[in-house]
Amino acid sequence: MALCGAGLSAGSGLPTFRGAGGMWRNYEATMLATPEAFEEDPGLVWQFYSMRRHMALAAKPNAAHFALAELARRKGDDGGFRTLTQNVDGLSVRANHPPETIDYLHGHLLDIKCSNQNCDYNVQDLRDPIIPELAVPLARQSLARRAPGPEQSAIAEGLGKLVYDESAPLQHVARERIPKCPKCNNLLRPGVVWFGEMLDEDMLTSIDRWIDSGVDLCIVIGTSGNVEPAASYAPHIRQRGGKVAIVDLDVSAGGWWGGKEAFDWVFEGDASKIVPELLRPLIGEITIPENSDAAEA
Ligand code: OAD
Repeated sequence: MALCGAGLSAGSGLPTFRGAGGMWRNYEATMLATPEAFEEDPGLVWQFYSMRRHMALAAKPNAAHFALAELARRKGDDGGFRTLTQNVDGLSVRANHPPETIDYLHGHLLDIKCSNQNCDYNVQDLRDPIIPELAVPLARQSLARRAPGPEQSAIAEGLGKLVYDESAPLQHVARERIPKCPKCNNLLRPGVVWFGEMLDEDMLTSIDRWIDSGVDLCIVIGTSGNVEPAASYAPHIRQRGGKVAIVDLDVSAGGWWGGKEAFDWVFEGDASKIVPELLRPLIGEITIPENSDAAEA
């Protein structure tokens, strides 16, 4: 089993949630990912997600996404290998990860769904922006603005490229401007799971059953272990006698109880480099398809 978090996509230039990448302007990313924040100021929350959508669309899957997808093709039949990802950025989808072998615990950033829990409206929407008011402010990177935030470095490949302009004043986007559900007329919201919300129950039951059927090896990739239920899967597998490895830039800084002692193997470094290396004996050399939209690894 692979259990993935934001560190898997960090090599593609996407910011993580905690640590240096966890701030957006003066807001903590985790404070905006709540139903309460949306209720209070849906325009602000949409501006934050509009930025994340823009970045996800601009980013490319890296070699670790492709390596996991290849492992799933080779070993995923009959539940032999399964990936649980907390990432909503769509990069595993774009690396052609076989859909029946991956669970998207926290939903999909590029989906839009109804904010009314009793309405099932949910569609993929790749427009960027979804309405003109949510356009992400961009500026040409110049020498004077070279000290980049994580957003800037993610999009910029060199000077003169268009990057997220954090100095542009944030315009208030009125509640009335937020698109409405065509089914029930409530506000539309990003298709992700927010703090305080339930994950899909059927998915959780299926994961629990599968883990208890005897997962013997789990590789944790780029997650700080701060969010449940994802954080409990690795210790649970270990308790049942399975082995657990972790690939992370900084294991000790995470929320893992016991730090490095919580794992049988610790590989500290960039997941986009280490994961293909670790999996090479099983999947061979990863060849990133020509004309794929993959980031160079
Ligand atoms: P975090 O930001 O909490 O943790 C990211 C982890 O990735 C940290 O342990 C980093 O050390 C590590 N990391 C950073 N760059 C890396 C790299 N290049 N290679 C390997 N590791 C790297 O993100 P998550 O654990 O994914 O949920 O956060 C879990 C959930 O909390 C998210 O899905 C989101 C968030 O709030 C919701 O929005 C519901």
